[in-house]
Amino acid sequence: MEKFHGHEIFVQLLRLLLLLLLSLQCLSSDYTPPSKYFINCGSSSTISDTTRTFVGDVSSDSFTLSPKPEAVEDSSPSPATSQLYRTARLFRSPSSYEFEIDQFGIYLVRLHFFPFSSPTDLFTALFDVSVSGLPLLLHNFTVQNTSNLPLIKEFLLTINISKFIVKFEPSQESSFAFVNAIELFIAPDSFIPHSALLVTRKGGKNSSYKGLLSRVLQKIHRVNVGGREIEHDSDTLWRNWVPDDTFLFNRSTARNKSYDQPIQYQEGQSEYNYSDRNIAPDNVYSTAKEMNTNKGDQLQFFNISWGFNVTKNATHLLRVHFCDITSASLSVSPWINLYINSIFSRNIKIITLAVPFYLDFVVVSDNSGLLNISIGPHRDSPVNNSFLNGLEIMEIMEELGSVSMENESKKKTTPLLVGLVVGGLALVCIVTVVLSLRSKCRKEKPAEASHWLPVTVDGGLSSHSRVYEATIHGSPVPHLNLGLKIPFAEIQSATKNFSGKLLVGKGGFGKVYQGTLRNGMKVAVKRSQPGHGQGLPEFQTEILVLSKIRHRHLVSLIGYCDERNEMILVYEFMQKGTLRNHLYDSDLPCLSWKQRLEICIGAARGLHYLHTGSEGGIIHRDIKSTNILLDDDFVAKVADFGLSRSGLPNQTHVSTAVKGTFGYLDPEYFRTQQLTDKSDVYSFGVVLLEVLCARPVINPSLPREQMNLAEWVMVWQKKGLLEQVIDPLLVGKVNLNSLRKFGESAEKCLKEDGTDRPTMGDVVWDLEYAFQLQQTAMQREPLEDSTNDAASTFPFPTIQRYPSYSLSTSDIHGPKRRDDSSERTESEVFSQLRIDNGR
Ligand SMILES: *[C@@H]1O[C@H](CO)[C@@H](O)[C@H](O)[C@H]1NC(C)=O
Ligand SMILES: *[C@@H]1O[C@H](CO)[C@@H](O)[C@H](O)[C@H]1NC(C)=O
Ligand SMILES: *[C@@H]1O[C@H](CO)[C@@H](O)[C@H](O)[C@H]1NC(C)=O
Ligand SMILES: *[C@@H]1O[C@H](CO)[C@@H](O)[C@H](O)[C@H]1NC(C)=O
Ligand SMILES: *[C@@H]1O[C@H](CO)[C@@H](O)[C@H](O)[C@H]1NC(C)=O
Ligand SMILES: *[C@@H]1O[C@H](CO)[C@@H](O)[C@H](O)[C@H]1NC(C)=O
Ligand SMILES: *[C@@H]1O[C@H](CO)[C@@H](O)[C@H](O)[C@H]1NC(C)=O
Ligand SMILES: *[C@@H]1O[C@H](CO)[C@@H](O)[C@H](O)[C@H]1NC(C)=O
Ligand SMILES: *[C@@H]1O[C@H](CO)[C@@H](O)[C@H](O)[C@H]1NC(C)=O
Ligand SMILES: *[C@@H]1O[C@H](CO)[C@@H](O)[C@H](O)[C@H]1NC(C)=O
Ligand SMILES: *[C@@H]1O[C@H](CO)[C@@H](O)[C@H](O)[C@H]1NC(C)=O
Ligand SMILES: *[C@@H]1O[C@H](CO)[C@@H](O)[C@H](O)[C@H]1NC(C)=O
Repeated sequence: MEKFHGHEIFVQLLRLLLLLLLSLQCLSSDYTPPSKYFINCGSSSTISDTTRTFVGDVSSDSFTLSPKPEAVEDSSPSPATSQLYRTARLFRSPSSYEFEIDQFGIYLVRLHFFPFSSPTDLFTALFDVSVSGLPLLLHNFTVQNTSNLPLIKEFLLTINISKFIVKFEPSQESSFAFVNAIELFIAPDSFIPHSALLVTRKGGKNSSYKGLLSRVLQKIHRVNVGGREIEHDSDTLWRNWVPDDTFLFNRSTARNKSYDQPIQYQEGQSEYNYSDRNIAPDNVYSTAKEMNTNKGDQLQFFNISWGFNVTKNATHLLRVHFCDITSASLSVSPWINLYINSIFSRNIKIITLAVPFYLDFVVVSDNSGLLNISIGPHRDSPVNNSFLNGLEIMEIMEELGSVSMENESKKKTTPLLVGLVVGGLALVCIVTVVLSLRSKCRKEKPAEASHWLPVTVDGGLSSHSRVYEATIHGSPVPHLNLGLKIPFAEIQSATKNFSGKLLVGKGGFGKVYQGTLRNGMKVAVKRSQPGHGQGLPEFQTEILVLSKIRHRHLVSLIGYCDERNEMILVYEFMQKGTLRNHLYDSDLPCLSWKQRLEICIGAARGLHYLHTGSEGGIIHRDIKSTNILLDDDFVAKVADFGLSRSGLPNQTHVSTAVKGTFGYLDPEYFRTQQLTDKSDVYSFGVVLLEVLCARPVINPSLPREQMNLAEWVMVWQKKGLLEQVIDPLLVGKVNLNSLRKFGESAEKCLKEDGTDRPTMGDVVWDLEYAFQLQQTAMQREPLEDSTNDAASTFPFPTIQRYPSYSLSTSDIHGPKRRDDSSERTESEVFSQLRIDNGR
């Protein structure tokens, strides 16, 4: 780079522009498989397979071989041997191929060795292979007589010179070198990252290995986990992928899983980099190994482990490929712990189904000569499953005499840039091109350029990472999850261009449509009216919060669209709509008490998770019955995170402009403007009363004292006459103790002073208790549910009937386990079990 020192400012400017360009994703990742160089060595004939043409190395304009060494031919080829492997070039003195390079970038180099029988025993060859200015690719190399023939050695390296030389050199005077075929072709842009997270022998979660692009990588393993061997003709880069079974430590821990639907390639990156067909073909992603557990046995919790032979004490690039083909819906797709050598772990949350992505690590091997990979379910995982689709290990070749893992000098520029500069183009010219490209970009993606700051999401190693992060401006800039982006055209097609027939909801925020994505997934599409309703901050918040968390009782975000100034959010479709619709002002059938309890428990769990889960400290701020949605099975999910706020660490409250919905709003918050998670608890208490009484929280048409639901019901609760005001449709069907427990829980939620209110964890516990009381009563009195005998259900004075004799934690927990699976905090909830809590 020294040569261009004078232009350094210019270069930096260029680099900035290029980075900007890249970040706008204007440089499309279009990659056409190149046509050169594919060389059939020792032959004058051209051989074509389905996708490649290997030209004979006897004569060509674009590469030269000098001096021209002898050619050998298979004297008795078996009919099964490919034409390519029937000839070879034999080198008894140093000789090289020189290739003209017209495009700089990352190249794949493959050397094919097939020691056929010839007058010279090719198994005795002993030689070195080197390339221009780089460490030796092969040293003292000889082809072993194994069953794995032809032997193909593959390397990845950056080429930034216009004449690239591959040199074959016998290791000893008496020895010789040979080769049957050579491939040298450019890989897609960004095929290899510049840096990756470094995993040393000690673990080391925090440093990254920089400068991958200036190293030579040699392929060691390329594995299609859970599937068959993939031959080179099914891969855009002519790679070969082998099955994983021989690498498994314990074959009975894993089983093959395959998927016959299309894989949903997505552009860009979220927390992980999305993959494309050049990174790995469909066949890699449409098969996986998953935990070999019996169907329905959710209680198994173990790792699947593989061990891969690698060079001892060497550095490797490890690329792991994931694509969730194991889950039927997002709410049950696993969170996976990936372990490398037992000393490093990474939590991988699956946020989209059938969307492939990959992660890169640089791993230093130890003296065991094995690189061990394990996967297992994360303890917060909604299901006890884990899976892996593919894996590649490439050794980072040592530069002779230099130390690895140096820090990249700041002066170094991207190879692309170096290429441009070295390519001799005038700088001014480039600037012009870049600028014009950039303005073209702007025209095409106005919303993106003006509204979205691409922020790379850091590894996500900490399970306590906050949703917001302070920036230099002091204002919260969200880690936007750009990878969840859905093109506007796809949304138009999903909703039949926002057909009125598919309209399922309407409000201040805009309109909600039902839609079907191309992959068949049913979704709800929330489209904000431009200039109305939900503003940009709410839009961003929602993407931010939802892309980071997933839970059985929180509505999953599928994606979003911000093209053409649209603010569209796409969620999993909730078949049964809002909770409110099932309570009043509709023709829907009445929910039973048991159903209502289950819904409340579900919503409470979702909220509890939001407050305490791994993303921690998120306050919803707008809990109400229209923000609790029901799926086909009446499973409740909390929705609409547009107003949510994350509590900051070590801060018990957040001062903020009062927002929320009248009737549900915490009076303490209203008074003090200090937001805490107890504000959500208050709102949830109001929802409980709404569920119990099936009426709007504010009904201006009622007499003054009845207008506000919370005030009105609390009067009756305090008198101990709650049953007088409950939904008439429930009268006679509710166990009294269950009702009392429920009423007490609501009352605690509505306490004036936030600190007196329970946590959502306590609320979950109380509601489960109420549920158990109802269940126990029904078991003992099978007809109770159908009787209208108010006297037996509501005896006066109230009889205290506690089932505490049978309530061990496991009893309470037992029947609910399936529902509780996603709760990391369930143990916390149940550790609070106090016998007198039942009173
Ligand atoms: C290469 O092999 C030859 C013969 O086996 C040996 O003498 C030489 O030391 C080896 N060189 C290296 C660097 O291993
Ligand atoms: C290679 O191995 C096979 C069987 O293992 C043997 O039959 C053959 O003779 C060997 N070839 C050479 C050149 O050593
Ligand atoms: C995604 O790829 C880019 C460029 O290849 C790299 O810099 C970045 O670290 C990758 N992100 C993740 C999460 O692996
Ligand atoms: C990780 O690195 C960052 C910046 O390099 C540093 O501030 C932080 O303390 C490190 N964390 C750990 C756990 O080492
Ligand atoms: C080409 O790349 C190598 C390492 O990959 C680097 O050392 C060298 O400086 C680069 N050459 C130019 C002209 O940039
Ligand atoms: C998985 O599939 C591969 C390729 O079909 C097969 O070789 C292997 O035995 C299968 N493994 C299991 C555990 O079924
Ligand atoms: C292999 O895994 C199965 C199922 O998890 C287990 O029963 C068996 O004991 C394991 N075998 C070994 C050798 O670890
Ligand atoms: C891995 O290495 C061990 C010992 O060096 C060897 O026995 C084994 O066959 C190797 N496995 C593979 C798959 O190469
Ligand atoms: C990989 O696992 C094997 C077998 O458990 C063990 O002997 C070896 O030390 C492990 N290697 C690493 C790097 O963890
Ligand atoms: C899975 O493997 C990791 C790393 O070896 C280990 O820490 C963890 O305890 C294992 N989990 C299970 C359930 O065996
Ligand atoms: C690998 O490193 C360890 C300690 O750092 C050393 O004891 C061992 O001999 C090395 N192994 C090889 C093959 O270099
Ligand atoms: C997973 O297994 C563990 C341990 O057996 C159990 O505690 C947990 O509830 C299970 N999780 C799910 C989602 O079933």
